[in-house]
Amino acid sequence: MTKASAVSAAVARPDHVPESLVCDFDMFHDPAYVLDPHKRIIDLVENAPPVFWTPRNGGHWVMLGHAANFEAARDTDSFSSEMVPYEQVEAILAALPPDTPHIPRAYPINLDPPNHAKYRQPLQGVFSPRTINVLKDSIRELARELVAEVADKGECEFMSAIAEPLPVRVFLKMLGLPLEKFAEYRALVKEHLSETSPEPASAILRLQKVAAAMRDTVLERRDNPRDDIISLLWKVEIDGRPTELEDIENYGVLLFIAGLDTVMQGIGHGVRHLAQDLPLQDKLRAEPALVSDATEELLRRYTFTVPPRRVARDLVFQGVQMKEGERAMLFLPGADLDPKEFPHADQFELKRDGKPHIAFNAGPHRCLGSHLARVELNIVYEEMLAGLPQFRIDPERPARFHGGHVIGVEELYLVWDK
Ligand code: HEM
Repeated sequence: MTKASAVSAAVARPDHVPESLVCDFDMFHDPAYVLDPHKRIIDLVENAPPVFWTPRNGGHWVMLGHAANFEAARDTDSFSSEMVPYEQVEAILAALPPDTPHIPRAYPINLDPPNHAKYRQPLQGVFSPRTINVLKDSIRELARELVAEVADKGECEFMSAIAEPLPVRVFLKMLGLPLEKFAEYRALVKEHLSETSPEPASAILRLQKVAAAMRDTVLERRDNPRDDIISLLWKVEIDGRPTELEDIENYGVLLFIAGLDTVMQGIGHGVRHLAQDLPLQDKLRAEPALVSDATEELLRRYTFTVPPRRVARDLVFQGVQMKEGERAMLFLPGADLDPKEFPHADQFELKRDGKPHIAFNAGPHRCLGSHLARVELNIVYEEMLAGLPQFRIDPERPARFHGGHVIGVEELYLVWDK
């Protein structure tokens, strides 16, 4: 079955949604989107309303314009991150038999204020630039090794050779998990990524496996702290109480979900652009100090996450009537390609003045790992440019993509002269 044929069935338009706000867009399987996601996004930005409703995937709102995303991201009273309300989740968990294995929850990403801050605050220090800078040398060493492994071959499938192993190794290093867990975590990442259905039972089982794979180390670090994030997490307090095993597992699962696929896809989108823009490669090789500007502009031009929200009350948002219980997607890639915010938004411009992108979102849920992500992206670009001659997309094997909450590069075949 091709991806195009997997487009979900359309549901009927609710009465309060005017025809003029409907745009037929399947964020998982839209055929033009999975062929070339950001090309399709530019098409949407040019032709769809800044807030639109799609009948696909059960019917939901899409915040397409920059202003809509920016405002909705900050308005947590109207747009909740709790797809199932917190009290309901806790009540379900409390009613389970006492011997039920712990069901990890990715707190704080799916919590609203005030609970959100209780779980976010302990992580702030953990992700400070100071903690992350300690990892820089080992990230560079790893990126260099991965590039060196393919350099003599004249070609590689970039996602499996570099984009995917790098963040997994960084995750293990950062949390202080043993390197022997590499194969196990790679397999868990693959399982996590290949699961397209949001069916709760299978998601719970997958997250339990992630938590189980770190349990021995988590307990070991409680008794013998080291210089890693698991040890730090044992020292923080959540709302005035010491952390427990379950909290550390929740955080571990959160970082697994939030920090692996995202970095991998960010690297994929960025390197795909570089592989198509040879003058940019030449410029960056000549002036490596410009790589950090390139990293920012690549994040803007190819913003790739689509965080979901639940409409928490009936409201009129930017002139649009929404009803409690509906779903709304913060379509951040559309925000960062909005020409009202970024002139010539479809162009890659190394030096853009002023306007920050919202690839890491805005508001209370703004990405906690953005500093780490930037370090990883910068280093990969630098090491690709330093370790390989001009690399290009293999003309015989075009890149393949998938849609979803993290728009991803599935395969990216690169070639270069040996
Ligand atoms: C290029 C890579 C990344 C991108 C584009 C990205 C993007 C995002 C976005 C858009 C959000 C907001 C989600 C929402 O509003 O629901 C977010 C939240 C978060 N990210 Fe990242 N992320 C990246 C890498 C990372 C890394 C490497 C980590 C840590 C290892 C991380 C940890 C988090 C956490 C903990 C949150 C939740 C914050 C909260 O809810 O308060 N992210 N990220």
